Amino acid sequence: MSQLDLVISGGTVVTAADSFPADVGIRDGRIVQIGEGLAGADRIDATGLLVLPGGIDAHVHLDQPTSDGTLMADGFASGTRSAAAGGNTTVLPFALQIKGQSLRSCVEDYHRKAQGNCHTDVSFHLIVSAPTPQALGQELPALVRDGYTSFKVFMTYDDLVLNDAELLDVFEVARRERALVMVHAEGHDAIKHLTRRLETEGRTAPFYHGQAHAQIAEREATHRAISHAQLIDLPIVIVHVSGRDPMEQIQWARARGLRVHAETCPQYIALTADDLRGLNMDFEGAKYVCSPPPRDADSQAAIWQGLRDGTFDIFSSDHCPFRFAGEASKDNPRARTSFRWVPNGIPGVETRLPILFSEGVVKGRISLQRFVALTSTNPARLYGLYPQKGSVAVGADADLTLWDPRMTRTIRQDDLNHGCDYTPYEGMEITGWPVRTLLRGRTIALNGRPMGDPGGRHLARRTSEAFGEGSGQ
Ligand code: URP
Ligand code: ZN
Ligand code: ZN
Ligand code: ZN
Repeated sequence: MSQLDLVISGGTVVTAADSFPADVGIRDGRIVQIGEGLAGADRIDATGLLVLPGGIDAHVHLDQPTSDGTLMADGFASGTRSAAAGGNTTVLPFALQIKGQSLRSCVEDYHRKAQGNCHTDVSFHLIVSAPTPQALGQELPALVRDGYTSFKVFMTYDDLVLNDAELLDVFEVARRERALVMVHAEGHDAIKHLTRRLETEGRTAPFYHGQAHAQIAEREATHRAISHAQLIDLPIVIVHVSGRDPMEQIQWARARGLRVHAETCPQYIALTADDLRGLNMDFEGAKYVCSPPPRDADSQAAIWQGLRDGTFDIFSSDHCPFRFAGEASKDNPRARTSFRWVPNGIPGVETRLPILFSEGVVKGRISLQRFVALTSTNPARLYGLYPQKGSVAVGADADLTLWDPRMTRTIRQDDLNHGCDYTPYEGMEITGWPVRTLLRGRTIALNGRPMGDPGGRHLARRTSEAFGEGSGQ
């Protein structure tokens, strides 16, 4: 056998199934040996470190235009640098179809934005906002065959919402083409009703965003999405699940054997509705405006239970960064008049893994195996990247994160690499941090700093395992 290019020696390899001390041998960007006493041209000493499969963040927004012209704080360069520094080797951003635009030209736009800028691997989910006969009949089937094997649909937002007939039409195509549909499940009419009522009462501070996006509206839409998927006999993923009520709908569906998968995010374990109060019901609360919004302590407890018991398959950031200050930011004149106009979304791609590790593994709420399953292995399985991605295994890409389980750090905006001007997790004490991230054997981040030229690729994906081999871990 020819020589190894690189050996990661002396660490503890962790997979979704187990952990064991071993060296990892890399050649031509892939893992070719796992064993003891390996030697290669180069060596990285991982003594005292965990050797994890690189994080896969399956829900990231980069360089997406918003309907009111607010600019996203991260494009593909800063967004993937930030991802790499946070221990990720692959991110799955969205290619957002603008109404009137063909899906093919939308995908081409995002390839242009990403080209030459990516420090991690990337692969696009399609956001279908205009399910025209052309889009459903010709474009989607061709795009699925080209490896864009997942779409996102929205049940709210004026510019994105699909009605029930449209949802069913998209589901039908997805079933035929074996594409996985991610559903943003919040009931649009209920949110509009509550928004109008709150505004009439003069309740316009960012805090009221949380009340307008009531958990009941999320529960209702979750149930409706599940029912539509059952009618069509389609597996779906309910994304960014915020609390107990929508979780119960997912558990109800699972108990009936329906193929419903679920994602949750750091904001639902690390933030609550109270964060939207800001300092004194002031505009600072806009820093926490995202949809669905963070809930309460009871929902946080439910989310932890779901992370443990398998209700959740995956844990993604929903990184959707808008600057707080300056032109075209969260703090724009219209946003000051009502929460309705505050751009929805918060940053988090760099802090996703540390928050789940520190709050989950270190505090004994989830195992190390579950951590790897939720953040790498299951996203790879669910989105058609496994076994090339998502595990430390012979034959897989050498996408690895060397993790110091004892390192303590306080999350500080000043230390982060994203393009946003704040982090909602400022001041959070973290134990466990990535110290080195490798993409195909090449170091892309070291000690919290991105390194090297952008060498990320776009990945064509296979059919989701949701259509066949079960739901992953
Ligand atoms: O508030 C959020 N989550 N913004 C991002 C868009 C989405 O719905 O995922
Ligand atoms: Zn969403
Ligand atoms: Zn999102
Ligand atoms: Zn599942």
